Amino acid sequence: MKIDKIIAAGHVMPVIVIDRAEDAAPLGNALLEGGIQTAEVTLRTPAALDAIEAMAKACPELTVGAGTVMTADHARQVRDAGGCFAVSPGATDALIKGCSEADLPLLPGASTVSEMMALGEKGFSILKFFPATAAGGLPFINALVSPLAQFQFCPTGGITLATAPQWLALPNIPCLGGSWIAPQKLIADRDFSTITQNARAAAQLNKG
Ligand code: 3PG
Repeated sequence: MKIDKIIAAGHVMPVIVIDRAEDAAPLGNALLEGGIQTAEVTLRTPAALDAIEAMAKACPELTVGAGTVMTADHARQVRDAGGCFAVSPGATDALIKGCSEADLPLLPGASTVSEMMALGEKGFSILKFFPATAAGGLPFINALVSPLAQFQFCPTGGITLATAPQWLALPNIPCLGGSWIAPQKLIADRDFSTITQNARAAAQLNKG
């Protein structure tokens, strides 16, 4: 699956930090029950790769990828765990090469116009905008609509259910990500019913 298809699967992608791999299957089911079809499990905990593997196995209808992917080794590990895509906070040549060699679609992060142009030269047209709120927020990404018309952005960082509609109203934002759907604490508390409620609210957000 290519990154454009993955992005097209929904307007909101939960960004997940998970401490116990055994929570991955119920978490994936909770997201699916709420209508979410794509999930990004960040490589920020020792359990992350096992969680990706468990979630991908238990929830074949969920497109499970990895976030905070920084190196070629990460790319191989994600592929071997059954992850379908990688999201990175920034981008390096080594990471891009590693994802390509692992046949892992990459959503590379950028937060400046020069980074975006450099990724454009490497063939990327769908980018993660990170850290979205801190790096200039809505006014920044809105200012790119005309001059950087060839790009679409998936912003993450500081976005909430309340602010998501403003982001999705922009023509260059097909989807966005955030941790508010499945926060680390709700997962740790195994509060999957609240996660399903959050997922439902997120899945009902419309593209403006
Ligand atoms: C992150 O940095 O974890 C993601 O960009 C999500 O950010 P958030 O926790 O502000 O939603």
